[in-house]
Amino acid sequence: MKVTLYMATSLNGMIATETGDEEFLSHENWEMFCELAREVGNFIVGRKTYEAVKKWDGGYNFDDLIGVEKIVISQDRNFKLDGGYTLANSPQDALAKLSEKGFERALVTGGASINSSFAKTNLLDEIMLNLEPVFVGKGIPLFAPENFKVNIKLVSVKKSGRGIVTLKYEVLK
Ligand SMILES: NC(=O)c1ccc[n+]([C@@H]2O[C@H](COP(=O)([O-])OP(=O)(O)OC[C@H]3O[C@@H](n4cnc5c(N)ncnc54)[C@H](OP(=O)(O)O)[C@@H]3O)[C@@H](O)[C@H]2O)c1
Repeated sequence: MKVTLYMATSLNGMIATETGDEEFLSHENWEMFCELAREVGNFIVGRKTYEAVKKWDGGYNFDDLIGVEKIVISQDRNFKLDGGYTLANSPQDALAKLSEKGFERALVTGGASINSSFAKTNLLDEIMLNLEPVFVGKGIPLFAPENFKVNIKLVSVKKSGRGIVTLKYEVLK
């Protein structure tokens, strides 16, 4: 299974503000996520991201990604998800569930805690970061503070019309 971490961040590596909103990220960034999710056919998020996105309005909704396999990770084996979502209890379990469904690629897309859980267990193969042209002073960082090191090699740099820079890295294992 090739595992890609795909995240949108401020230039200083924040994925949301202190209160958890992502208003500083552009619509273009959301569209780029949806396009990749449809291409890969799945995505994996943490329980807190699932709950945060459920509260959004204005057309920003995971539910609209019909046909895309949606995995939510929680330690709570009885956590109730809406229809169309599958519960997993660890990063390994999430990948096993996608393997069972025939996927050879998985898209991990936050939040900070899930990203660190995958980094700590050395499960990431590729990292794609969409850097939005904004600095956010206080917020939730790309990785929750945990003890790990991920060595990476730059593969490509792309710039969008609006100035989003997409960095793609291979994880060196
Ligand atoms: N900018 C972006 O691209 C982007 C993308 C995604 C999310 N976000 C933002 O990120 C924020 C949420 O991040 P977060 O770090 O607070 O939460 P999170 O990573 O979305 O979810 C954390 C939860 O995931 C579960 N979890 C994490 N590691 C686990 C493991 N090893 N095994 C089992 N369960 C595990 C736990 O759920 P339980 O407590 O239920 O056990 C944990 O509380 C939101 O504000 C969201 O908007 C931004």
